[in-house]
Amino acid sequence: MVEATATVDEVHDETSLRPRRLEEFVGQPELREHLRIVLEAAKARQQSPDHLLFAGPPGLGKTSLAGIVAAELGVGLRVTSGPILQRVGDLAALLTDLQDGDVLFVDEIHRLSRSIEEVLYPAMEDAKLDLMVGKGPQAKSIRIELPRFTLVGATTRIGLVAAPLRDRFGFVGRLDLYQTHELTEVVERSAAILGVEVTPDGAAEIAGRSRGTPRIANRLLRRVRDFVEVHGDGTIAKASAAEGLKLFGVDDLGLDKVDRAILEVLCQRFGGQPVGLTTLAQVVGEERDTIEEAYEPFLLRQGLLQRTPRGRVATVRAYEHLGLTPPPSVLF
Ligand SMILES: Nc1ncnc2c1ncn2[C@@H]1O[C@H](COP(=O)(O)OP(=O)(O)OP(=O)(O)O)[C@@H](O)[C@H]1O
Ligand SMILES: [Mg+2]
Repeated sequence: MVEATATVDEVHDETSLRPRRLEEFVGQPELREHLRIVLEAAKARQQSPDHLLFAGPPGLGKTSLAGIVAAELGVGLRVTSGPILQRVGDLAALLTDLQDGDVLFVDEIHRLSRSIEEVLYPAMEDAKLDLMVGKGPQAKSIRIELPRFTLVGATTRIGLVAAPLRDRFGFVGRLDLYQTHELTEVVERSAAILGVEVTPDGAAEIAGRSRGTPRIANRLLRRVRDFVEVHGDGTIAKASAAEGLKLFGVDDLGLDKVDRAILEVLCQRFGGQPVGLTTLAQVVGEERDTIEEAYEPFLLRQGLLQRTPRGRVATVRAYEHLGLTPPPSVLF
């Protein structure tokens, strides 16, 4: 079985498939509307908007939104991330180099160190940078005026963003898993960009198996495109989409190998007993964070998995999906 993981070309495709303007951004209607108002009001006042934080599971469009904010405002975009931004000096260099009104995008903002956060607070609030120069008794604090800028943060773990940092964002947009009809639109849009023919029910078939996630919808679209180019006439229809996805190990709920491994561990290996996250991650061979951020939200939403104080358990629906008989402990 071939796994549906990303290749170098696909990373390039991801960039080309990325929505550039708010108009092109599919789904998340409430968030999109709120953001439109925030951006339009700022433009009308000829000011920078408040700092913006986007939160939600991987592949739902947080990075895309950061680019959209800069494009809609007609300003430059500088990109960094929590784990990359290690030293206060690096942050200072980045901030002082901004042009007036620029967007500074900080991905994985929950992974910023405390010392960086401390420097960020006055920068966010008063566009000022307070730095200590020198060491010991000669040390003195200097203050630098910064250009006005908009900080756009993204996080898959809103709960891990320190409260004082979270409070300094004027707008927090939470992204939810997408509805199938929204993902159908994503697939149709991407197919048009990639020059692939897809029927409406072909697009819906891919969308329905994309775990609520546009990035996965795009990835599955490319896999099915490969499949119909080799085995079909190059057009993606419902039947060929279903057949192609099955070949690549995506089942009718859209579960991939890891999803199924998680459920199998819960149902079989531990016989329906609650399993702690660490144990689950070890047995499945994935990172704890990956399980929690990338896999669980969808399994929870599908009603296949439950979180209990004692650990994760599979639901009756999970047993049924795997073709297993649920033990009495799950039924009652
Ligand atoms: N609303 C959307 N409309 C159309 N395409 C989208 C949308 N959201 C995401 N995509 C597609 O999914 C891809 C992944 O989105 P993006 O990189 O913005 O997600 P992310 O939330 O930043 O993920 P991560 O947490 O992994 O960084 C984009 O390149 C784009 O092709
Ligand atoms: Mg991203």
